[in-house]
Amino acid sequence: MTFVARASSNSARSIVTLTVNPALDISTSTSRVMSEHKLRCGPSRIDPGGGGVNVARTIHRLGGDVLAIYAAGGLTGATYRQLLEAEGVPTLAIPIAGTTRESFTIDETDSGEQFRFVLQGPELSEAEWTRCLTTVEAAIAPGGYVVASGSLPPGVPTDFYARVARLAHQHGARSIVDASGEALQAALAEGVYLVKASRRELSEFTGRELANEQKEVDAATELVARGAAELVALTLGQAGAVLASASGAIRLPVPRVRVQSVVGAGDGFLGAFVWRLSQGQRPEVAFRSAVAAGSATAAKPATDMCTRADVEALERLLPAATRY
Ligand SMILES: Nc1ncnc2c1ncn2[C@@H]1O[C@H](COP(=O)(O)OP(=O)(O)OP(=O)(O)O)[C@@H](O)[C@H]1O
Ligand SMILES: [Mg+2]
Repeated sequence: MTFVARASSNSARSIVTLTVNPALDISTSTSRVMSEHKLRCGPSRIDPGGGGVNVARTIHRLGGDVLAIYAAGGLTGATYRQLLEAEGVPTLAIPIAGTTRESFTIDETDSGEQFRFVLQGPELSEAEWTRCLTTVEAAIAPGGYVVASGSLPPGVPTDFYARVARLAHQHGARSIVDASGEALQAALAEGVYLVKASRRELSEFTGRELANEQKEVDAATELVARGAAELVALTLGQAGAVLASASGAIRLPVPRVRVQSVVGAGDGFLGAFVWRLSQGQRPEVAFRSAVAAGSATAAKPATDMCTRADVEALERLLPAATRY
C-alpha cells in the first residue's frame, strides 16, 4: 500500500493501540478478605479494561485521535464490546473463538488494601493473532504512533510485540510498548521508540534491584544507550517517574492525591504521554502530563480513567523536574 492510500484509509488514526488480552474488569469492595466465610460485597462496577484499551480510553477522553484494536470473544467479549462502544472510543474488534477474560479487584475497606486477581485469558490461534497483526498494519498512519500494551494470552508468540514494533517502523510510525517478561525482552531487542516500564518490570528485565534513585536512573539510561528504546519512561508508583532519553534523564514526584484504585494508573500515564507526543509536544512536556494523568487515574475508582480537567489541574501542582 502506498503512503497516500494509507493516510487516507478509513481506519488510519494518528494513534493506534493494540490489546490482545483485554479484560472485563469487575471491581467491588468488602470489609475484610477471609477464607471460608461468604464475603458480602458492596456495589460492583464493570469496566472494559486491559492495557491498550485503557490507553485508548484515556486518549479519547483527553480529546486525541485514537483507534483501539482488540481481540474479543464469547459472552464476556460481547459485553466488553458494548461497554467500550458506549464510551465512544473508535474501535476495531477482532473476533476470537475463546472467551474474553475477566479481572477481579476487591477493595478491603477495613484496611484500605486492594486485592487484584488477574486471569490468564483465552488461547489465541495463529490465525487470530496473525489477524491482529494485519489489522494493526492496515491501520498504521505514517508519522503516527502504535501502542502495544498488556500481557500476551496463551498461544501468542513472545516476539509478538517485537513484530508489532517492526510493522510500525516499516510504515513510518513510532512504536510504544508496555509489557513485561519475555514479551518486553523481545520488543527491546527489536528496539522501540518509547517503552513504559514499572519498577518491577525494569528490575526483572535488568536483573537488578534498583535499590535507590541513582540506580533507577542508571537502569533507564542504560536502555537508551543500548538502543533498546529512544525514550524510557520508568514509573515508580507513588514515588513518581523517571524519563530517560539521549539528552539525559529527568525525574518528577507525584502530585498529592487521594488514591482510590491504582488499576489503570500506568495506562493513564501512557495515554497522556502519547496524546501529548501526538500533538507535537516535546517528551519532557509529555512526561509532565503523563505523571499527572497516572495520579489522576489512581484517584479514580476501579478502572475509571482520568479526564482532561484532572490532568491539567494536577500538572499545575508538579514542581520543575530534577535533572541528572
Ligand atoms: N499511590 C499513588 N499516588 C499517586 N500517583 C500514583 C500512585 N500510584 C501510581 N501513581 C501514578 O501512576 C503512574 C504509574 O503507576 P505505576 O508506577 O504503579 O505503574 P503501573 O504500570 O500501573 O504498574 P504495574 O504495571 O507494575 O502494575 C505513576 O507514575 C504515578 O504518576
Ligand atoms: Mg503497568
